[in-house]
Amino acid sequence: MGKKVLVLTGSPRQGGNSDLLADALIRGAQASGHTAVKFAAGAKQIGGCTACDRCWENGHACIDADDFHELEPLLESCDVMVFCAPVYWMGFPAQMKAAIDKLYAYGGKGGLRPLAVKEGALLLCGGDPTATEYDYVAKGYEMILSYLGWKDRGIVWQGDANAAGDISPSALQKAEALGKSL
Ligand SMILES: Cc1cc2nc3c(=O)[nH]c(=O)nc-3n(C[C@H](O)[C@H](O)[C@H](O)COP(=O)(O)O)c2cc1C
Repeated sequence: MGKKVLVLTGSPRQGGNSDLLADALIRGAQASGHTAVKFAAGAKQIGGCTACDRCWENGHACIDADDFHELEPLLESCDVMVFCAPVYWMGFPAQMKAAIDKLYAYGGKGGLRPLAVKEGALLLCGGDPTATEYDYVAKGYEMILSYLGWKDRGIVWQGDANAAGDISPSALQKAEALGKSL
């Protein structure tokens, strides 16, 4: 049976490099019979976690009336979660980080309401042509997965990509292959 793949994207530039990576992974996943959906955090309004510790009080993971409510059912029903983003200041863009911070409501492995997600993957792009920044962001991703108890299924990064469309065909092929392999 196919898996449910959720691709959480972080760029506010729709149709940009990371969006193309996400689409390539989705093509691959669908070719292998998986269901894949994209949630573009960069096009949504999600505020940062306010540490109010009032998760679930109104039936939602987060009590704030923002677009995280749209993400909640996707998070709660997927098997694989793909983080797909441009590197912003050596990290994830704020829009995506806000969504990640709100995973607090579910907790890590052994937490009160852990997600059923079992696996993760990472797609990154950025202007830096060297591996240093992507390795750094990937390390944070790996620590998130370790905390959540998810298995990493693969990481694809592409440097030297600044303008929209700079993403290379080989990076798109790698993302598609990763999607197929899920
Ligand atoms: C606010 C901002 C911060 C950025 N910081 C970095 C960075 O730290 N390292 C890097 O390699 N590229 C950085 N970039 C470049 C983007 O990662 C790059 O343009 C990427 O291809 C954008 O992907 P997108 O088309 O999906 O938005 C930054 C771009 C912006 C707008």
